[in-house]
Amino acid sequence: MMSSGSGISKNTGRSLPTQDVSFKVTNFASAQKQINNFQDATVGANRSNIGGFGFGARAFSGRRSFALAAIPKWAEGEWSDEIKARKFMVGGNWKSNGDFDFANKFPQDVLGKANFDTELLDVTAAPTYIHLATVQQKLKGKKVEVCAQDVSEFGAGAYTGNITAEQLADMGVKWTLTGHSERRTLFGETDEITAIKTKAAIEQGLDVLLCIGEVKEERESGVTDDVNARQLKAVADVLSEEQWGNIVIAYEPVWAIGTGLVATPEQAQETQYNIRCWLAKNISPKVAAATRILYGGSANAENAPELIGQKDIDGFLVGGASLKPDYLDIIKAVNDEKKKQM
Ligand code: PGA
Repeated sequence: MMSSGSGISKNTGRSLPTQDVSFKVTNFASAQKQINNFQDATVGANRSNIGGFGFGARAFSGRRSFALAAIPKWAEGEWSDEIKARKFMVGGNWKSNGDFDFANKFPQDVLGKANFDTELLDVTAAPTYIHLATVQQKLKGKKVEVCAQDVSEFGAGAYTGNITAEQLADMGVKWTLTGHSERRTLFGETDEITAIKTKAAIEQGLDVLLCIGEVKEERESGVTDDVNARQLKAVADVLSEEQWGNIVIAYEPVWAIGTGLVATPEQAQETQYNIRCWLAKNISPKVAAATRILYGGSANAENAPELIGQKDIDGFLVGGASLKPDYLDIIKAVNDEKKKQM
């Protein structure tokens, strides 16, 4: 828990309330970065949510400068207390795979055997639309829930081939993906269409696994965070702060999807931390702390245990491995990590 009370600034002798605040004597550049982070984060955020303040002072000792930074813990990226509050999640994405036999057998033979604590973890499986009702039926009374892979940006009407959010809700489906990179790259779905779909689903009471991520060239040219920010902004433009409560972000570097090339734990952690910072600055610190951010892209039973140990990875969106019994090992790794944190 955060401490409360007061502290004395070494530089000014002023008494500072320490509620929600951590003190750090650090070099000036680093203190300045943290203070900037705090100041950026408070722009546009409701200050009354924050319960903290930023303070920086500079002192010189010979040629070196030191600074005392007193900033709210969330502003310096310390979300460790909130980690415990975030339920983890494992989502399976079957894409255009599986026949009628698979849709009938896999839920019973594999998914029904998933052993996890539903208080700690949500687990979903996303078959194609044609198998959705079958899989849903087979999972009745089990812990794993069905998820749609996509949803129409329109309501009921003359939209041949589209399934509406209302129809999903009517069928008792509680989850859908939006913005999967295959929808974006193969079917030309823009950030704006993804945003409209996301909003349509949330307004029908669904929870959304919102997929974002950069392609290989974008990673190589160093614009990963900008791409994620652009994709998130389109959604932020149409959602209220409250509606972020229905979003789980799936960060999926496109170069890692279906390629066997998984992001390193450091790459995934750094990018997901930056996504959380974006949420703090552009939505609210509260949303940043509460939003689950999953990693997706060649996640499997071997790499899951190390990835899930990263602070800003709250689970996985799994493609290929979700069609195999390995899915159970991924679920177990995530459940074990969550239990360890409690
Ligand atoms: P993959 O797919 O696990 O097969 O890489 C992930 C996804 O597309 O969601």
